[in-house]
Amino acid sequence: MNRLTDCIINKKSSLLPVWFMRQAGRYLPEFREIRQQNQDFIKLCCDVNLVKEITLQPIKRFDLDAAIIFSDILMVPFGLGQNVKFKKNYGPSLEELDLDKILNCKEETFIKKLKPVYEAISSVKKNLNNKSCIGFVGAPWTILVYMINKKSPKQDFNFENLIKDEYIILKLFEKIKKMISIHIRKQIEAGADIIQIFDSWAGLIPEKNLKTYCYEPNFFIKDSLKKTKVPLIFFPKGIKKNYLNFCDEVKPDCINIDPDIDPEWAKKNFNQIPIQGGLDPKTLLKDEDTVKKEVKNYINIFSDYPYIFNLGHGVLPQTKVETVKLITEIVQGKRK
Ligand code: CP3
Repeated sequence: MNRLTDCIINKKSSLLPVWFMRQAGRYLPEFREIRQQNQDFIKLCCDVNLVKEITLQPIKRFDLDAAIIFSDILMVPFGLGQNVKFKKNYGPSLEELDLDKILNCKEETFIKKLKPVYEAISSVKKNLNNKSCIGFVGAPWTILVYMINKKSPKQDFNFENLIKDEYIILKLFEKIKKMISIHIRKQIEAGADIIQIFDSWAGLIPEKNLKTYCYEPNFFIKDSLKKTKVPLIFFPKGIKKNYLNFCDEVKPDCINIDPDIDPEWAKKNFNQIPIQGGLDPKTLLKDEDTVKKEVKNYINIFSDYPYIFNLGHGVLPQTKVETVKLITEIVQGKRK
């Protein structure tokens, strides 16, 4: 059993595994070089050899406990037939939603389109020895937001407006839930040891709607996979004190906290559910002493609790490679 799984399943507090969200990404010069030569991001995510190479880039530099497959949560809309582009200085841009086409998308068609993801996982696995291979998906709400909003909801987002057409929401949400579950199952079949479920936009859901759009769909995902032994790490980003309700309702194998969550509060209230992450990615842009102090703060708080070291969101592109190395070594006790 690899260290990450051991920490989650056996709730071990002595292991302190470490990996980083977005550990393969733009802060790495070797990633930027490949990206420069591959302007079409989705096409890049479907190139098995390049996905394998990018996934292993951070593993070659740092002694991390896991590789996360290089892919994107928007591969699910792509697999369903809604095309996705990534524009410079804009982010993702999805084409107009064709509801009939999406609802009629067959399981086989979806799986066939996303086959390179599964092949890349199998190929990465062969190069990992005892490290974990992490697969991932976006949670149903976060995928729904992108498919309807067609871009990042960072600006001018209106909840009521997004859910106004009840028929669309009902039908589309069901389809999305089912396909996400299939995408996870296929990643597990391909060899993923752990799956992370990113509900990156859960913070946009009004409190009274959290049950419908966050707790229930995340529970559906968990429940649909109850036969597998693969641990699921949930990340309902931005829901503040409702993290507690999330834990009660979903009973996740492991939960990723964001920088708004007080780690002491989480440890005291999450009832021994293994915790991952928390450190603000912006801390990594500060001086060495501040980085050390903040990293040690999380380590100390969780010294007697099952904890996986990670951040409260992805590594920022401006991050220095040396900082990621420094943190990894501090966590592993190789540096003071
Ligand atoms: O963690 C890893 O190293 C694995 C790779 C990974 C990517 N996306 C690659 C990527 C993972 C786990 C994701 C998840 C993802 N994608 C999320 C959930 C986590 C989060 O950030 O909240 C979301 C919301 C997306 C959607 C997405 N993909 C956006 C909004 C963007 C553009 C802005 C951004 O953050 O970069 C992407 C593009 C993307 N996905 C890039 C990478 C490396 C950048 C592509 C580029 O070079 O332009």
